[in-house]
Amino acid sequence: MSATIQRRIMTGAVTILAVAVLATPHSVSAQNSKSDDGQKIYEQNCAKCHAPDGSGNTTIGKAVGAKDLRAPEALKLTDAQIATQIEQGKGNMPPFSGLTKAQIDAVIPYLRSLSKKQVASKKTQ
Ligand code: HEC
Repeated sequence: MSATIQRRIMTGAVTILAVAVLATPHSVSAQNSKSDDGQKIYEQNCAKCHAPDGSGNTTIGKAVGAKDLRAPEALKLTDAQIATQIEQGKGNMPPFSGLTKAQIDAVIPYLRSLSKKQVASKKTQ
């Protein structure tokens, strides 16, 4: 084996190792934190209509009339009302019978955090 090839292999291994080390702490915290669970549930079940930022600004969201979850009307809803809407659906929003109560309880604070993120980004602009 030539020295050049050997060096390339070594460099490749070091790069892979560095990437693995950098990636690990992030994915571990994503699995353990409750709010991250809410985010995951949201991204898997809700974002296609309500958009990752809650605006409802997606192709499907606009087609079905998904509401802006950061709007004052949405923020007025109580946790119980939101939970009922997720369980039973409403209008064009389908019921999510596959979500457990714990998952619904995790996604609601995440919805509320979307409007706070918007306020925070407005302040810094
Ligand atoms: C297929 C598209 C679709 C998906 C997926 C979807 N929604 Fe909706 N959502 C809607 C539509 C449409 C409305 C408006 C319903 C109405 O009032 O007629 C809505 C309304 C809402 C509202 C009420 C907002 C308001 O101002 O009244 C909340 C809260 C909500 N959705 C949360 C969620 C959550 C949480 C998920 C994921 C678990 C989700 N939605 C998934 C389409 C969707």
